[in-house]
Amino acid sequence: MNAHSSKMPQAISILGSTGSIGVNTLDVVRRHPGRYRVLALAAHRSVDVLAGQCAQFDAEFAVIGDASLAGNLAQALADRHCRAQVLAGAEGLAEAATLPDAEIVMAAIVGAAGLTPTILAARAGKKVLLANKESLVIAGHIFMQAARDGGATILPVDSEHNAIFQALPAAFADGLESVGVERIILTASGGPFLDLPVSQLRDVTPSQACKHPNWEMGRKISVDSATLMNKGLELIEAHWLFNAAAEQLEVLIHPQSIVHSMVAYRDGSVLAQLGAPDMRTPIAYALAWPERIEAGVKRLNLAAMTDLSFREPDVQRFPCLKLAVEAMREGENMPVALNAANEVAVQAFLDSRIRFDQIPGLVGRTLERAQRQPVNTVQDILHHDAMARRHAGEIMQTMT
Ligand SMILES: NC(=O)c1ccc[n+]([C@@H]2O[C@H](COP(=O)([O-])OP(=O)(O)OC[C@H]3O[C@@H](n4cnc5c(N)ncnc54)[C@H](OP(=O)(O)O)[C@@H]3O)[C@@H](O)[C@H]2O)c1
Repeated sequence: MNAHSSKMPQAISILGSTGSIGVNTLDVVRRHPGRYRVLALAAHRSVDVLAGQCAQFDAEFAVIGDASLAGNLAQALADRHCRAQVLAGAEGLAEAATLPDAEIVMAAIVGAAGLTPTILAARAGKKVLLANKESLVIAGHIFMQAARDGGATILPVDSEHNAIFQALPAAFADGLESVGVERIILTASGGPFLDLPVSQLRDVTPSQACKHPNWEMGRKISVDSATLMNKGLELIEAHWLFNAAAEQLEVLIHPQSIVHSMVAYRDGSVLAQLGAPDMRTPIAYALAWPERIEAGVKRLNLAAMTDLSFREPDVQRFPCLKLAVEAMREGENMPVALNAANEVAVQAFLDSRIRFDQIPGLVGRTLERAQRQPVNTVQDILHHDAMARRHAGEIMQTMT
C-alpha cells in the first residue's frame, strides 16, 4: 500500500500558477487525485487562465497580484460557476502563502516580485517548493533564516538544485565537508546560442532567445539561459541552499540537458542525477518528498544515448556568468543589484528596447554604480532593488 493512501489530501497553494512551473505543477497534481488538494492559486494579471484553473481544480482562493483586476477575476469566476474567494494585491499573495490549511506552497512567481510571499511561506513553516530562485539570490541569508525560524522544509525545484539535493546525503546541512563533498557541479545547456559566432549575438531576436533547445520555460528564464545569467543566479542559489563556498561550486556546459547536475566527493565518486529535460520530475520529487510519484515524464532511453558531453563555459561569450560570480563573491547588496539590473535588461530586450548583446553591459555598468553595503532586512533589499532598477533605467537611456 502507498504510504500516503490512508492520509488526507495535502492542501497546496501555488503562487505563479499560470506560468510554466505553475502549469507543470498542476499537471502533476492532476495525476494524483486524493493525494493533493488545490487550496489557492495566484497569478499577476492572467485573469482568464487563473479563473479557468480555479474552476478546474475547485480552488478555495483565487489570488490576483494586480489588485486593479480583482473585479474582473470575480466576474470570470462567476462566469465559470466557481466558488473561489478572491484575494488581491500584495496582501492577497501574502495570505495565499500563509493560509493555515496550506501544507505545501509552490513558490513559482518569476523575479523579485516573489520575494515577500516566499519568505512569508518559509516563516510560516510551510513545505516550500522553491522555484523562485530570485528570492535566494537577493535575500539568501534572510530567506534561510526565515526557514530555520519557521521550521520550514525547503525543497528545490530548479532542476539543477533538485538534482544536487538528490545526490547529497541528508546530513549535508551540517556542512558539505562533513559529508565528504568536494565540489558541486552545476550543468548548463548553454542555451540556443552556444555555438553561434559571437559577432552574430547582436542580431538575435527575443523569439530566437526564448526558443531553448531542450526546455520549455517562461520568457525571462529563457533569456537568462541564453545569456547564462541563469547559471550565475543558480550558483548564488546553490551557495545559500547547500551552504557552499564559491570555491566549491563549478559550472560545466552539457548541451544535452540529461545530467541535471552532480556532486563530487572526496573519494573520487561523482554522483549525478539524470532524466529527460522535463520540469515535472523535480516538481514531483519536491511535491512527494521523501516519496516518489509518477510525473508523466518520458523515460530515458539510455541505450540510444551516444553523446553525453561536458565542457567548460566560455566567459567571453557569456560575460553574465562572470558578473554573477563576482557579485556572489562580493556579497551584501551586490547580488540584489545584479538581479535587479538583469530583470530590467531582460525586459528591455524582450520589448526590443536593447539588443541581446547589450544585456551584460547594462548589468555590468549598474553593478559599477552600486556601492557595497550590508543588507539585513527585506526593506534593505527592496531599497537596493529599487535603486539598481533606477540606475539601470538611467544607464539604458545612454545606450545606443
Ligand atoms: N520554467 C522553468 O522551467 C523553470 C525552471 C527552473 C526555475 N524556474 C523559476 O521558476 C520561476 C517561475 O518561472 P516560469 O518560467 O514559470 O515563469 P513564467 O512562465 O513567466 O510565469 C511566472 C508566473 O509568475 C506570475 N507573476 C509574475 N509577476 C508577478 C507578480 N508581480 N505578482 C504575482 N505573480 C506574478 C505570473 O502571472 P501572470 O501569468 O499573471 O503574469 C506567472 O504565473 C522563476 O523564478 C524561474 O527562474 C523556472
